[in-house]
Amino acid sequence: MPVSLVIGSQWGDEGKGKIVDLISEDVDIVARYQGGANAGHTICWDDKEFVLHLVPSGIFRDGVTCVIGNGVVIDPVAMMDEIRMIQELGYDVDGRLLVSHNAHLIMPYHKRIEEARERALEKGAIGTTGRGIGPAYVDKYSRIGVRVVDLLDRDVLRKKLTASIEEKNAILELVYGAEKLDVEAIIDEYVEFDHLIDPYVTDTAHFLGTALQNGKRILAEGAQGALLDIDHGTYPFVTSSHPTAGGCSTGLGIPPTAIDRVIGIVKAYCTRVGNGPFVTELFDEYGEHLGRVGAEFGATTGRPRRCGWLDLVALNYSTMINGFTELAITKLDVLSGIDELKICTGYKYRGRELDRFPSEAHILEEVEPVYESFAGWEADISEVKTMAELPGEAQSYVSFIEQEIGVSASLVSTGPRRSQTIIR
Ligand code: GDP
Ligand code: IMO
Ligand code: MG
Repeated sequence: MPVSLVIGSQWGDEGKGKIVDLISEDVDIVARYQGGANAGHTICWDDKEFVLHLVPSGIFRDGVTCVIGNGVVIDPVAMMDEIRMIQELGYDVDGRLLVSHNAHLIMPYHKRIEEARERALEKGAIGTTGRGIGPAYVDKYSRIGVRVVDLLDRDVLRKKLTASIEEKNAILELVYGAEKLDVEAIIDEYVEFDHLIDPYVTDTAHFLGTALQNGKRILAEGAQGALLDIDHGTYPFVTSSHPTAGGCSTGLGIPPTAIDRVIGIVKAYCTRVGNGPFVTELFDEYGEHLGRVGAEFGATTGRPRRCGWLDLVALNYSTMINGFTELAITKLDVLSGIDELKICTGYKYRGRELDRFPSEAHILEEVEPVYESFAGWEADISEVKTMAELPGEAQSYVSFIEQEIGVSASLVSTGPRRSQTIIR
């Protein structure tokens, strides 16, 4: 099995970090292909808990090499902080972390522009993580971005940064009336990264290509979720990259034919951070239960996550786009203690049932969910190790998802720790 791919099937925070950490025990390489430090992937075992933003979630597994691919946008300050944190925890990073020379960099001006634009949008703001992701991808696609490789040559970096900052200063001042950035101070700070980042930088596409030829097992780790995809998500309330399966090939430089396993991570209910349509959102005691018991606070920004019932219309759409070959259903334990559970199986728009997931945010805002009800269960399931030990109602809940989506769940997660997983 060459490449397995883990994808968030909803709006992010499905538990990708937990599942990647768990299954990376059996792989040689774990690679991130898109996004940046907007991600927050939580990993727990025993009494330890870590949140990773840029470094792949395989870093705590001996013998696993971690790759930050060309499709990722890298904030060098955030990356060096994260490397330091991992080293301080006693884990070796040297030789185990490889960073693509072609990946683009996030600079302070990207964050400033994002902040100014979000402020100007007021009610229409996206509710971004403020990590500079969108503006960094804009520069990449405008072909004026600064790449990791540019950090290694001080003259090139100085030239590129000067041009870029002068342009950004004009935008900040003239369009947003915001404060300008100090060109020299930024250049002085970033030229220092050449020797810091140099040990990690390589041609990761070549490394992965060679690894594939040598029969190494690769696990690709998606960040965010399919419904935040720039093309396929709930535009404009999306991120600026491709978390969906298609993004893996371009974001790592591996052929799509090498991917033979696509694992859709499905939270047993839905959450969303930031703004945008959310058909099954709850504002009642059930939503309060999901947020409280599920500890639904952003792992990157600490913002409370909006909570709602599981949405199978959205999940079916996500399955169509990504071609999941298996599911990992997470946070089933959070549903314990709810008397009646609901799952959304259809959308109604102005009295008519829709036959597909609409692409217009304003239609999604108006859509009414059609629900099926399920009996809940009381028992604490957080230490259950087999499906047969689960209460019948929990088994029915899982079976219903599998049946409606047409894909089996190979993993069912019942708690944040590695050990709290039903492996089928
Ligand atoms: P990611 O972004 O997809 O990696 O997910 P996050 O780490 O942002 O959010 C998932 C949260 O749920 C984290 O706090 C995890 O520790 C936690 N978690 C993961 N799986 C489970 C589970 O099965 N049950 C419970 N109760 N928590 C879980
Ligand atoms: P992980 O990998 C949940 C959301 C933001 C905002 C939108 C755009 O932990 O699942 P951005 O900063 O990317 O331009 O923000 O996307 N968002 C996430 N939501 N989990 C994430 O990552 C997210 N990364 C971005 O809240 O709505
Ligand atoms: Mg997260």
